[in-house]
Amino acid sequence: MRVTRLTARDFRNHSRVELELGPRLTVLHGPNGAGKTNLLEALYFGCVGRSCRTSNEREVVRSGEGVARVTVEGEDEDGRHLIEVGFSPGEPKNARVDGARIERPADASVRPLVSVFLPDRLELVKGPPSPRRAHVDRLVGALWPARAQARAAYSSTLGQRNALIARIRAGRSAPSLLEPWDSELARHGAELMRHRRDACALLVGPFCARAGDLGLHGEVELRYRPRSRAETVEELTDELRERRASDLERGFTTHGPHRDDLELRHEGRPLRAYGSQGQQRVALLALLFAERDALADHGRTLLMLLDDVMSELDRERRERLSGLVLAGGQALITATEAEHVPAGRGPGVTLARVEDGKVWVEAGASDGSWRAAPRAA
Ligand SMILES: Nc1ncnc2c1ncn2[C@@H]1O[C@H](COP(=O)(O)OP(=O)(O)OP(=O)(O)O)[C@@H](O)[C@H]1O
Ligand SMILES: [Mg+2]
Repeated sequence: MRVTRLTARDFRNHSRVELELGPRLTVLHGPNGAGKTNLLEALYFGCVGRSCRTSNEREVVRSGEGVARVTVEGEDEDGRHLIEVGFSPGEPKNARVDGARIERPADASVRPLVSVFLPDRLELVKGPPSPRRAHVDRLVGALWPARAQARAAYSSTLGQRNALIARIRAGRSAPSLLEPWDSELARHGAELMRHRRDACALLVGPFCARAGDLGLHGEVELRYRPRSRAETVEELTDELRERRASDLERGFTTHGPHRDDLELRHEGRPLRAYGSQGQQRVALLALLFAERDALADHGRTLLMLLDDVMSELDRERRERLSGLVLAGGQALITATEAEHVPAGRGPGVTLARVEDGKVWVEAGASDGSWRAAPRAA
């Protein structure tokens, strides 16, 4: 789905705001604290049904107000669509797609796939493995929706095996009861590893190409690092069986794909430990663009939300990044200066100024004047 319009009411510092998005790119620019990231967050909130910035969602409701509302309008080959999300702290979210109530917006079939770059997402490159595993698993679900449940099935089986280990340690169950759980965990685990391997294989080529495009010179690698060397369910079952004694001693399942990692390397060394801030930034962007390429090959377009992505890049890298953004899908970029986004005035691009919770749309005026007054929803 391509997003055509965002409307937000009482979301962060925006009381009422409406923004028409460019079919290819929307650039939001304005001073610090104006509300640019807040608008990007509102768009994510409307598309995905939760914040990309905070787990304490009451923060998104404008101070002094009770309800935040976001609507996202868009179109795909079936026609026009409307997603509405209302949120009042302490109550379940009220989400509708084309007027029909839905439980979880993230599961709705009518919604754009969204990928987001926020400065603190660098953790994905330099932090611990668990968010990287979750990231790869989400990509698996986007590439092959029928495979989306494999991670949940593995996690639930893992939880049950760990609970059994606790009962055995407490003397309330017999160790022999682990036998069926080992086979079950191995069955789901081997499947999960296969999915991750498939997804990473699709990313290797585009990741290296995009890293080069963005100016990360030298040898770049993306590697799936499974904890287990097993190639089959039987081999994984054997590995689990061999570690039973140590699992019982330590009190949890120590082996299996819940300890996998995705490694990004540059010049033979992990970027996580050795990369500069700028290199880690470019690696994260290269990963997100590689995912866009892989999804495009599977017929899925991506809405990329890129927050403050240009600020630490030199002019040449800004131009390369702009070129990549325009090469496919739809994107929204925030920047303090419009000039930081070299593509900000081309066809299919909406340039909007954000100031103190209000939005002016330039609508491509060639003389650079603001044509539209602040819009109220
Ligand atoms: N719930 C809220 N109610 C009212 N205002 C809020 C709320 N949450 C955040 N704000 C205000 O929003 C402003 C920050 O907005 P935002 O983070 O979008 O700025 P920005 O334009 O992205 O700035 P920068 O260029 O510094 O990143 C701050 O002034 C903050 O006080
Ligand atoms: Mg910001």
